[in-house]
Amino acid sequence: MLDLDNIQLAIQGDSYHCPIKGEIEFNPNGLILVDHAGDIIATYRQDDLQYIQVLAQLQHANKLQVLNKGQYLLPGLVDLHCHASQWPQAGKGLDLPLYDWLQNYTFPLENRYQDNQLATAVYQDVSQRLLANGTTSAVYFASIYRQSTELLAKACLSIGQRAFVGKINMDNPEQCPDYYREASVADAIEDTELFIHNVQSLHGNQAGLVKPVITPRFVPSCSHELLKALGGLVQQHDLHMQTHCSESDWARDYSKQHYNMTDIELYAETGLLNHKSILAHSIFLTQSDITTIKQVDAGIAHCPLSNMFFANAAMPARELLNQDIHIGLGSDIAGAPTPSIFRSAFDAVSHSRVREEGVSIYLSAEQRGIANSRISFNEALWMATNGGGKVLKEKIGIFAPSFHFDAIVVEAKVQVGNLRIWPEFDSPQDVIEKIIALAQPENVSKVWVQGKQVI
Ligand code: GUN
Ligand code: FE
Repeated sequence: MLDLDNIQLAIQGDSYHCPIKGEIEFNPNGLILVDHAGDIIATYRQDDLQYIQVLAQLQHANKLQVLNKGQYLLPGLVDLHCHASQWPQAGKGLDLPLYDWLQNYTFPLENRYQDNQLATAVYQDVSQRLLANGTTSAVYFASIYRQSTELLAKACLSIGQRAFVGKINMDNPEQCPDYYREASVADAIEDTELFIHNVQSLHGNQAGLVKPVITPRFVPSCSHELLKALGGLVQQHDLHMQTHCSESDWARDYSKQHYNMTDIELYAETGLLNHKSILAHSIFLTQSDITTIKQVDAGIAHCPLSNMFFANAAMPARELLNQDIHIGLGSDIAGAPTPSIFRSAFDAVSHSRVREEGVSIYLSAEQRGIANSRISFNEALWMATNGGGKVLKEKIGIFAPSFHFDAIVVEAKVQVGNLRIWPEFDSPQDVIEKIIALAQPENVSKVWVQGKQVI
């Protein structure tokens, strides 16, 4: 017998998820039962023995939400790397390489976040736009300013988005402008500890929907002393750590020249690296770096479109997936302009295909690319959902008992957006590929986070 009192929400409909990397599981007319805390109690397939009986009980108790044909339930998307403060810059200023882009565009913009009014307006909008695109969990960089970064955490909490929010730390006077850096390591650490406390104790955040993240910007921005002090906080608290890792030739070379270490070696040496590390980009990893990442169970945020502008090379996503490194996707707003993780998934596929084929017409076809480096649409959706959950070590990204119910409904609507489904032509696999390629906010008609409907 079902304990009906325990059920907050029950949904019947066609759903997809990716419990296994590279495979999609289509569950036509399935049932998902969610408890009052927003966690999944049980899922049923149409051919399960209990299906008919459970369905009848839910119908009798009037507890069932039935999706229409043409509506598809998917796990909410996970954005592992988004600079919320850079949202006003999205779509412009991508003409410069990373160092110049930071100095000329990004640091002046981030410095504006001493203004709490501006921060509130931008942060509410970015959280809402990500949710509208189907991103139920987002990992954010904000700015060095603690107060306005707390406003980002507050905005996500009140909007109902699962969020991992970082107050940026950066202090190296050789790399950071005088107007935009921490006054001292002691100040940075004191501020970060206060930030952690304030976010954890936000009113309404008892269940931890919004979590503070320890956030050294990247190696060039931080003194060794600051990296070590933040590493101390990582050792002391059970918190996520996010940073940029080996993102470009320049960033990779900086660590080699200044420390004779790779970024990963330096993050490990300073105590920053562990199973809750979210390493954005990670393009130029050595085999030894990959072994370390695997040993400590850290994760990578693959940001394919941003890589086109800043990485100087193509991400070896295939090789990392083959070695079972945890990888999810990031938008990297505003190193890339789009807040859509479906778009990141599509870019991850196309990026890998360019890598496989190669680019130079002056080389023969055999010499041009790197054989077998493509990744599939199913792997890209896995990264956008389950992979992101594995990087975060959170129970998100699949529909399974005890996982949080973070979900979206995607549907094609005639005369709105570009997504068109033709039932007579499109198999379940075709539908999922079309969703990755074409879904826009117009097609995301419902969104739940932790069992609560937020769109
Ligand atoms: N490396 C250091 N800071 C940044 C940033 O803001 N964006 C990107 N893409 N890379 C960085
Ligand atoms: Fe970034």
